[in-house]
Amino acid sequence: MKFNIITIFPDQLMQTLQFGVIGRAIENRTIELNFIDPREFSDNDYGSIDDKAYGGGPGMVMQVEPILSSIEKIKKESKNNIQTVFLTPQGEQYTQKQAELFMKYNEIIIVSGRYEGFDERLLDLTENAVEISIGDYVLSGGEIAASVIIDSITRLIPGVLGDDQSAVEESFTSGLLDHPHYTRPEIVRNKEVPNVLLSGNHKAIKRWRLKQSIMKTFKKRPDLLKKRKLSKEEQLLLDEYLDELDE
Ligand code: ADE
Repeated sequence: MKFNIITIFPDQLMQTLQFGVIGRAIENRTIELNFIDPREFSDNDYGSIDDKAYGGGPGMVMQVEPILSSIEKIKKESKNNIQTVFLTPQGEQYTQKQAELFMKYNEIIIVSGRYEGFDERLLDLTENAVEISIGDYVLSGGEIAASVIIDSITRLIPGVLGDDQSAVEESFTSGLLDHPHYTRPEIVRNKEVPNVLLSGNHKAIKRWRLKQSIMKTFKKRPDLLKKRKLSKEEQLLLDEYLDELDE
């Protein structure tokens, strides 16, 4: 999968993506990172790509031409159907579901903004584009957000995670938060591992974990439960938990 990243700070992305499973995916060419510096397409000798906002106000706005020319250059060199992602706090909230959708593309363009944001016409002029926000907070640039997007997509590509790190049973993939995890030692600072996990009873462990997932989601992210239809077994476990709360 090829990620084209339009950014003036490629090093910031490389710093965060060179480690662990994502670093390996770059090394073995499962993913390719192609950086494009929009300053290449600046219309002045200083290489600036931003200007003051029409209507006044603080901050600078990224101009259309340098970014649009960068996008056009990438598209001209490719035969793929490309999705373009503009990173801004005004975008749609990024989710695991969105990562799964992006994963289906062979090639993506990620536009990492600085300053106050993009000239709105850039969005109108780009085909197959979405505005994405990684959360309700403002970063000083889109590079960190771009790393988040690239990491979350890459780990879904078959073979990137080892068998023991399957992405299938993780938080959000199932629409529920993940169950709690425990490792050695069995007792630490007087805190014991839940007995069921030592029982060797796989059916009981599976049931316990599912109930924990449902409980955690109910307590911390009720919004996720509202969005998801529960199976019969899941509803039973939730009712069981609610009864326990009443006791
Ligand atoms: N750029 C600045 N803040 C951002 C956010 N929350 N998500 C994506 N891009 C951003």
